[in-house]
Amino acid sequence: MLPDHILNQLVSIVGESRLLLDADDLQHFGIDRTTEWQAAPSAVVLPETVQEVQSIVRLANQHNLAIVPSGGRTGLSGGAVATDGELVVALDRLNKIIDFNPLDRSLTVGAGTITAQLQQFAEQQGLFYPVDFASSGSSQIGGNIATNAGGIKVIKYGMTRNWVIGLKVVTGTGEILELNKGLAKNNTGYDLRHLFIGSEGTLGLICEATVQLIQPPPESTVMVLGVNDFATIMDVLKCFSSGLDLSAFEFFSQSALEKVVAYRGHATPFQTSAPFYALLEFASADQGAIDQAMQLFEHCTEQGWVLDAVISQSLTQAKNLWKLREDISETLWQWQPYKNDISVRVSRMPDFIREVDQLVAQSYPDFEVVWYGHIGDGNLHLNILKPEGFPVDQFHANCVNVSAEMGQLLADYEGSVSAEHGVGLLKKEYLHYSRSAAEIDMMRSIKRVFDPNHIMNPGKVFD
Ligand code: MLT
Ligand code: ZN
Repeated sequence: MLPDHILNQLVSIVGESRLLLDADDLQHFGIDRTTEWQAAPSAVVLPETVQEVQSIVRLANQHNLAIVPSGGRTGLSGGAVATDGELVVALDRLNKIIDFNPLDRSLTVGAGTITAQLQQFAEQQGLFYPVDFASSGSSQIGGNIATNAGGIKVIKYGMTRNWVIGLKVVTGTGEILELNKGLAKNNTGYDLRHLFIGSEGTLGLICEATVQLIQPPPESTVMVLGVNDFATIMDVLKCFSSGLDLSAFEFFSQSALEKVVAYRGHATPFQTSAPFYALLEFASADQGAIDQAMQLFEHCTEQGWVLDAVISQSLTQAKNLWKLREDISETLWQWQPYKNDISVRVSRMPDFIREVDQLVAQSYPDFEVVWYGHIGDGNLHLNILKPEGFPVDQFHANCVNVSAEMGQLLADYEGSVSAEHGVGLLKKEYLHYSRSAAEIDMMRSIKRVFDPNHIMNPGKVFD
């Protein structure tokens, strides 16, 4: 519990109704989507303006009070978890559409704007915001930027970083910085905007963002292919990406499909079951693209790579096929999964897949492993499911044991221990497999510049 004089000053900044101290609120705002940690913040504040955020940060500096920024709380690495009496600064109320410029095709919003609302606003203007993922109905743009969120269209559009053309931030020192101001071209020294993107709240708080919108993409078609074995998925990717303009290339295993079908009531794509499925989406403004997709499918079948396929005939069918992939993550939470979010360069995937598959089979003989992910980006989500009745601590300890070997394998392949979920608390122990000691030291030095009193999300990314 914070002393009264600090609580009073917080009230004088945000008012009584936006300072939350109830146990339920502390629980709700003190945690993200992970289940490993217990929420234990001392208070939650809900600022409505950038100036309020600045006053909160200045106060926190005076009293050496740690701040945990909180967005849509959909994170998967414990980056927004407050376990140790921190002050949670929830950006939910900074959720206004601030400016839209049709000529620049730029949109400025408060950090607390829900991703889907931003996407809808773009659509109403006849434009398109291309970053998309299953949690877009509850994730906030500020959180997406703080974690450089990826998602299901990275193969064509890249990560959140590619779409941020301006940021208004409050640094750990309480400075308000306006970074890049929506410019397409701006070669004026270090681009601090990009330091904040993916910084997971360790440098300051992202308060407003300007994103680039584009013309909506042409109509697209979705295909799900039953694939014979894991490594073959990469042959299928090579084949389809040579002939089509792909906007997604995802995969999931039979066990992922079985669970989504059983628990969400979705229909199986086709009768033949396959060890793995590839889901791809391609631009199909004309019949030529569909004919091309059918030819590529035939080639893959002749090679013995693909067992069966289904192709969407309508928008509804396309959406239903997407649900088979997008609903996996939420479906799996009931097994308290140990989540991996790893990547290597696409060109190294065929070899990496063989080795990672072997490592997993050796390491988790008693656990069910569910595979899915953005394989077209070289990104695998490998979820180990906790057997019913198995003690959580023991399960976690067993999984963690393998993480070091996985980390070394990733280091050998120059891969990443966190492709898109961020480091947070969950991956910081493994950061050194992907980043050198010199790099981590420099990251610490950069943090000291923006946050000399070490109040911004301490303990996240690195200690
Ligand atoms: C996904 O690709 O479904 C998300 O990153 C969530 C997850 O990995 O569970
Ligand atoms: Zn993902």
